[in-house]
Amino acid sequence: MTKPQIWVASFLFLFIVLFLLQKATKTNAPEKDFSQMGKSMMQQESNENLSGAQLMNNFGCLNCHGANLEGTPMGPALVNLKQFWSRDNLINYLRNPNSFMSQKRFQEYKEKYPNMIMPAYSNKDVKDLGKIADYLLSR
Ligand code: HEC
Repeated sequence: MTKPQIWVASFLFLFIVLFLLQKATKTNAPEKDFSQMGKSMMQQESNENLSGAQLMNNFGCLNCHGANLEGTPMGPALVNLKQFWSRDNLINYLRNPNSFMSQKRFQEYKEKYPNMIMPAYSNKDVKDLGKIADYLLSR
């Protein structure tokens, strides 16, 4: 073989090797599991079937406010909220508790639960917060 022929041959060989390598890695690559994807999408939608009380459990509200909302050392009892909140204000409060801290009741909470803060739930679906508000206002 002449020198140029050797070059061409070795390039051809290289291409074939690369082509085969690509094939091999493709079949080895993990396939996307679409059934799992469907499942997680279902899970997100399934909040639609949950009650306000169940949502409060899922969102961890009960850890601080008690299994029966009777209050714990980490958060106040959630009773008689009707007298303090409209539905809209309560939803806004859950989304951004800080903006309501100036109320007198909250000054007392600050002294009673000095190291706790009510988390902001602005990342939650407003529809879910609405259900929670309805539930809290109906008790
Ligand atoms: C980390 C503990 C903690 C978690 C979790 C928590 N809270 Fe609170 N919550 C507090 C504290 C503490 C206060 C008192 C206000 C303050 O200090 O920020 C409060 C206050 C409130 C109030 C106002 C009570 C009033 O007298 O008007 C409502 C309503 C409330 N929480 C609802 C919820 C809901 C609904 C959830 C779940 C989506 C939740 N909280 C999760 C600690 C918590």
